[in-house]
Amino acid sequence: MTQQKLIVGNWKMNGLSAQLSDIEVIAKAAASGVASGVECVLCPPATLLGTCISRFGDQDIAFGGQDCHAMRAGAHTGDVSAPMLADLGARYVIVGHSERRTNYGETSIMVCAKAQCAIESNLTPIVCVGETWEQRDAGEALEIVMDQVRHSLPTHAEAGRICVAYEPVWAIGTGRVPTNDDISEMHANIRSTLNDMFAGEARNIKILYGGSVNGANAAGILAIDHVNGALVGGASLKAETFLPILIAARTCVGAG
Ligand code: PGA
Repeated sequence: MTQQKLIVGNWKMNGLSAQLSDIEVIAKAAASGVASGVECVLCPPATLLGTCISRFGDQDIAFGGQDCHAMRAGAHTGDVSAPMLADLGARYVIVGHSERRTNYGETSIMVCAKAQCAIESNLTPIVCVGETWEQRDAGEALEIVMDQVRHSLPTHAEAGRICVAYEPVWAIGTGRVPTNDDISEMHANIRSTLNDMFAGEARNIKILYGGSVNGANAAGILAIDHVNGALVGGASLKAETFLPILIAARTCVGAG
């Protein structure tokens, strides 16, 4: 598949207005061509999203939400809907991150409803899947992740509008990364499941790897077959740690 790599920064519950300076550095670097040929997306906290989009959003860098509700509007105190994110100018939204699945009991069925609402709102959902260490240790990783893929993605959706992020739960924020062979096996299986679900359209779906991606390991991970980009947590918080990942992605354009 010859596609631009997609690099997404997930700031999680980090970032006050003082940290906008890092986003400014990243946006300026993107505008100067550091990430040419790479799709660069940042998902800051909802509190900073509108400011980021109005100050830095352009064709070199896009912004996204970290979650959305499954409903378009209604009596859901504290929640943010996909149309609200789109109204700000967001283009992406992460759904089904393992921290949401664990902390809020989100099931794949719920994640699927969120992804569907995101698509209807003209956002690209980044649908996260991934096994725990116990599941991998028990030899269940492939089965668990394929089940999540089958149930978290709306099959009648425009496939080109969906991204999948494979994030082993045990690799998130731990500095532990699966072997290249394990990433390759999982991504090949996800690709084949997507082919079953979406037929020819599946080739438009990007499959990102996430979990302890950094400037030192990004080039190796992005060169693995069927790895179309990365979802980056900790290393996306600072321009000095995020920019090397964008540069690594640029050298990998066309691979995967
Ligand atoms: P990490 O987080 O890069 O800090 O491991 C990735 C994620 O949770 O999306």
